[in-house]
Amino acid sequence: MNDIKKAAQIIRSGGLVAFPTETVYGLGADARNESACLSIFRAKGRPSNNPLIVHVSSIESALLLAEFNDDALSLIKFWPGPLSMVLPRKADAQIANSVSAGLSTIAIRIPSDPIALQLIVASACPIAAPSANKSGSLSSTSYRHVKQNFADEIFILKANGKANYGLESTIIDLSTPIPTILRYGFITPDVIEAALGKKVSIASKLSKIKAPGMLHKHYSPSTNLRINAMELYDNEIGLNFANSKLQSRGALNLSVSGDLTEAAANLFAYLHELDEFALSHGIKTIAVASIPNKSIGLAINDRLNRAAE
Ligand code: TXA
Ligand code: MG
Repeated sequence: MNDIKKAAQIIRSGGLVAFPTETVYGLGADARNESACLSIFRAKGRPSNNPLIVHVSSIESALLLAEFNDDALSLIKFWPGPLSMVLPRKADAQIANSVSAGLSTIAIRIPSDPIALQLIVASACPIAAPSANKSGSLSSTSYRHVKQNFADEIFILKANGKANYGLESTIIDLSTPIPTILRYGFITPDVIEAALGKKVSIASKLSKIKAPGMLHKHYSPSTNLRINAMELYDNEIGLNFANSKLQSRGALNLSVSGDLTEAAANLFAYLHELDEFALSHGIKTIAVASIPNKSIGLAINDRLNRAAE
């Protein structure tokens, strides 16, 4: 509790705090404070044209920031939880300009992790937070990862031992005529379509990019990644799924039983681990077994594809 008080004080005085969410760790600042938000971009080395997600603790706070159409109202039932909605920003929303990076929209979510919620409540402001990692590297799913990214620069709230989903939130753009998924996550397209009672589209790399950040290579380990691997070549380490047999020293399995939720939760942690192993053993490439491209597998393959680019 004292740590949350301390973290809230840092947020209120314009500083940065890393905090756990049910997806990945966030690097937060008071979303109303321009210089605080700019320091998020500096700390991450993030291009200023890549907007931030605003985290709030209640629907009332969300309604102050954005225009909620019927579709948005139908998706509120996923809050608190791993869904971010991109909506037209209200003209009088008290949000720093850098958060929306020049767009007329704002991405919002209510996280479900109790520590994240307590931090937002104690800070009494919306918190802008990208994932707590240097721009272009893997998202942090543990205290240790955040520490590796930011050393002692930033105060980090520890998770209460609860496992997180391990993948960033699903992002859906509701500011366009047809709802469009900008990033796959735990809330899958079929689940969203069922809630909306209509089809959604999926932003492809070829479609007009809404968020410039979507263009960049993301979530990348330093070692090369080879996906859909059927066998191991020389100088490779294996990342398996279910009964795949990419056997090498240090090889890992995302889920022996072939469970996609378990695989997602392990993904970034295992990539971090294999990356470290590869670097210290002179191994060039992480070979990843193929993952079924359905349900949460869509999000896993999305992250693997970006990392392998
Ligand atoms: O699970 C998550 O979403 C985590 C936790 C901390 O909440 N946050 C996260 O933030 O993944 P970040 O910054 O790593 O990814 C946010 C993505 C970026 O790709 C950004 O381009 C997009 O959201 N985004 C933010 N605001 C947007 C907007 N107004 N329109 C379109 N895309 C937006
Ligand atoms: Mg990120």
